[in-house]
Amino acid sequence: MDLDTQFPAVSDLRERARRRVPHFVFEYLDSSTGKEDQSVRNRARLQDVQFWPSILEGRFDCDTTTSFLGRDYPVPFGCAPVGMSGIMWPRAEKILSAACAEAGIPYCMSTVATVVPETLAPTIGDQGWFQMYMPSNPEYRADMLDRAKAAGFHTLIVTVDTPFESSRERQRRANLTIPPKINLAMLWSMLLHPAWTMGTLQEGIPSLKLCEEYAAKAAAGNPNEFHSLAHAGHIIRGQPGWTDIEDIRALWDGPMLVKGVQQAPDAKRLVDIGVDAIWVSNHSGRQFDGGPASISCLPAIRAAVPDTPLVFDSGVTGGLDILRALALGADFVMLGRAFHYAVGALAEKGPPHLIKMLRDDMVSNMGQMGARSLDGLSSRLIDETTP
Ligand SMILES: Cc1cc2nc3c(=O)[nH]c(=O)nc-3n(C[C@H](O)[C@H](O)[C@H](O)COP(=O)(O)O)c2cc1C
Repeated sequence: MDLDTQFPAVSDLRERARRRVPHFVFEYLDSSTGKEDQSVRNRARLQDVQFWPSILEGRFDCDTTTSFLGRDYPVPFGCAPVGMSGIMWPRAEKILSAACAEAGIPYCMSTVATVVPETLAPTIGDQGWFQMYMPSNPEYRADMLDRAKAAGFHTLIVTVDTPFESSRERQRRANLTIPPKINLAMLWSMLLHPAWTMGTLQEGIPSLKLCEEYAAKAAAGNPNEFHSLAHAGHIIRGQPGWTDIEDIRALWDGPMLVKGVQQAPDAKRLVDIGVDAIWVSNHSGRQFDGGPASISCLPAIRAAVPDTPLVFDSGVTGGLDILRALALGADFVMLGRAFHYAVGALAEKGPPHLIKMLRDDMVSNMGQMGARSLDGLSSRLIDETTP
């Protein structure tokens, strides 16, 4: 199969993934919350960012390399944390972490992954970022960080944009609970997707393994509090406040980022607390349908914390989008759904193909702009189209 011809864009991977996995699985990955207006805004505002093309530059090469938080990368992008990632395709977390390590780009494991940090230790290499939904129990919080560090995850991401559950109507219509409770419609859909189903059964029903371990610990100490592990994720997930960020900063001696920042004053306050980098994100429209496009938040945050590294995500579907985010002030870009469409569409072959596709698209567009490196992209922006 010639992947470049058959799957030249993320939309091709999405379409194939949609056909290869049960309906409830696709809806889990693909949906946002509410009327999904914020998702639409994320894309629309990204598409509005335009550059002047360039002509008669002669022969030149385009350099996509960058450095971020003291490490060198061949490209300025990586895989964002996705909870229940292993539901998308059997062994998804192992496949994705290995592909990212091989490509030399970051893989961010979610607290609510279907594996524990130790599972990825053999494959993660030097590319491990660990995303924490802060447990309300300080003992579990410290233990979780110790385990992530011991397993080789060197960069900590604290996600702060999920203070409440969101509605996720499409997910509900598909009957998906987390962890999944299988009903007849789901069973039927699983029968129609035997490759996914056989692999998933072989690997074990996906569940929130790390959270379940802490929920089981808590249940051992207090049988009345935790009757069931079914809601382990919700039980473990605390609602962090500003002082918690200070506490976590004191616990973690490596690079620490806060993810889900959308306003400049918040970014400034986090930098004052000692956070090393800010991750501008709106969870790709999965939490709050009433907020701005993620790309619209970037320029003000760049201006507020000019010397702080910035990560950007939400709505990125190609190399050109990555250049758009870099031009508006990001230093690094992460993609969630695209990596998971890739693994759903093509299993092990998906993530390397996606990484190549994104890089090729970056180089092609840099060439059109006459950009030899990732520096100075902002000077090529068309001012009136900047959101
Ligand atoms: C199915 C799904 C699950 C997610 N789970 C998490 C999570 O566990 N932790 C987290 O910080 N972000 C989570 N996110 C948000 C992603 O890390 C990232 O912000 C977002 O997917 C980026 O947008 P994109 O999917 O348009 O690339 C999730 C996103 C999706 C689509």
